[in-house]
Amino acid sequence: MSNTPETLLKVDHLCQYFGFTRAVDDVSFEIKKGEVFGLVGESGCGKTTTGRSIIKLYNITSGNIYYKGIRIGAGMKSYKDDIERAKNEYKEKVANATPEEAQRLKAELDAYVADRKKAMNEAKRDLKECDKAYSAQQVAEVNAKYEPLMNNANPELVQEYRNELRKAKRARLSSQIQMIFQDPIASLDPRMTVREIIAEGLIIRGERNKKVIDEKVFEMLERVGLVREHADRYPHEFSGGQRQRIGVARAIIMNPELIIADEPVSALDVSIQAQVINLLNELREEMGLTILFIAHDLSVVKYFSDRIGVMYFGKMVELATSDELFAHPTHPYTKSLLSAIPLPDPVYEKNRKRIAYDPLVEHDYSVDKPTFREITPGHFVSCNDEEFARYQAELN
Ligand SMILES: Nc1ncnc2c1ncn2[C@@H]1O[C@H](COP(=O)(O)OP(=O)(O)OP(=O)(O)O)[C@@H](O)[C@H]1O
Ligand SMILES: [Mg+2]
Repeated sequence: MSNTPETLLKVDHLCQYFGFTRAVDDVSFEIKKGEVFGLVGESGCGKTTTGRSIIKLYNITSGNIYYKGIRIGAGMKSYKDDIERAKNEYKEKVANATPEEAQRLKAELDAYVADRKKAMNEAKRDLKECDKAYSAQQVAEVNAKYEPLMNNANPELVQEYRNELRKAKRARLSSQIQMIFQDPIASLDPRMTVREIIAEGLIIRGERNKKVIDEKVFEMLERVGLVREHADRYPHEFSGGQRQRIGVARAIIMNPELIIADEPVSALDVSIQAQVINLLNELREEMGLTILFIAHDLSVVKYFSDRIGVMYFGKMVELATSDELFAHPTHPYTKSLLSAIPLPDPVYEKNRKRIAYDPLVEHDYSVDKPTFREITPGHFVSCNDEEFARYQAELN
């Protein structure tokens, strides 16, 4: 399957609980290399938490996150729950068992617990070693490039080799994934100059050469539509749109493969929104970026995203290509979100009715529970058996 694009990020049954709040509850999706994946849903549905879980700002509750097949996130709760459940089942069964049966059940339980603990330890080891594995790979690449050039190399080249090697040794998988934060005011330290803000990641990664750092900062400023004279100013001296450009510069200086853009335009005027979206689009083409684009409004992601996932209260309720989602919205919550988009068409606007979504009215999940199912190829909806049949009939 060499012509199918590589899966860059795989989020697998992600759960992130804060006490009783299930901010993200069993969410799965994949992002292919080069794709823009839109994640939408109303305030509080868990979009930011999903993004922050991916960049490892949280120890996730359960589920796994993979980057290029390397496990970068794993939650321990599901393993502990499995063990707990097995122990309870054992207690129930063993109560009425003959001694021989009891012995067999105990052996079964022990084997199961040992297996779950082994899986949990594997997850812990993967997490601990993912950066190491990545940096070892980077070191090997640098060695392969420079070693053949080291016969009669001039001191400058030797120095360059050393520099690159030092960076490779400090390379972290996590710098491959950068986030543009939701709030451009809160996310920029007011005591730091723009130069310091943009250069921070490079310095953490091991770059020491001040000239290299300055040149890189100037290059990034110009790339996002600012000028080098802005480098010595402070964030409060900029407009909202300019601040968001600083956030973009800070993210792309690390030369990441994946950008998580968390509502990068929600706080901006409509005219400025288009500018920032255009900037992201240009960067996407120039740098071959893959983007997870978070928004609460479907109209913002419509033209920009290849595929869209719709979240409601911590759950993914629908996922499809952008075209498919707009042509055949299926989950009632998606229909409700779509009905909220105004169009520049007076006749349409006059008749446009906002469809309200009330899960208690729309679904009867008292017996038949919903799961996330593929109703047509690539189009997933959260539904139970009855809804699955109805949605498929609707689409045909
Ligand atoms: N650090 C935290 N501690 C406790 N609860 C949190 C934390 N972060 C988020 N939550 C809760 O988790 C839920 C999801 O929040 P999240 O910020 O992910 O939503 P969102 O979809 O990004 O919303 P918005 O569109 O308003 O940014 C909310 O109920 C929120 O109150
Ligand atoms: Mg948010």
